[in-house]
Amino acid sequence: MADIIFVLNGPNLNMLGTREPEIYGMDTLDDIAGRLEDKAREAGVDIDFRQSNHEGHLIDWLHEAQAAGAKAVLLNAAGFTHTSIAILDAIKAIKVPVFEVHLSDPQQREPFRHFSYVGLAAKAVFAGHGANSYELALDAALQL
Ligand code: DQA
Repeated sequence: MADIIFVLNGPNLNMLGTREPEIYGMDTLDDIAGRLEDKAREAGVDIDFRQSNHEGHLIDWLHEAQAAGAKAVLLNAAGFTHTSIAILDAIKAIKVPVFEVHLSDPQQREPFRHFSYVGLAAKAVFAGHGANSYELALDAALQL
């Protein structure tokens, strides 16, 4: 069976394409998923791409990634990045490496975005490259 990589997206990312395009660009989440799936297919890896506006779903899916034997998780926890001890705990509870992803560079934005709970447990961070941040994170995950 092919390796599987989970790509988990948090709140408001379903609005990409129309959401603050000057910050997040014009790509929709479906556009991003399509490109990642093409790239993963070339590498012989399956992608399980999901989005939720609910913190608990992201936590359940992190646990599920481990149960499914995922090779890695790419996680854009969006606003929960900066608030969620529970997501940090979930990342620490699993052995699957988690790569933190952001379209924008939170370090270059408002001070309340500078701290990342996800970053305390993530293997690496890919931020500030727009939709390409996901592809860069996938490249890193494929090298594991
Ligand atoms: C984001 C950055 C977060 O600060 C913000 O809350 C988001 C999107 C990004 O991808 O740039 O919702 O994670």
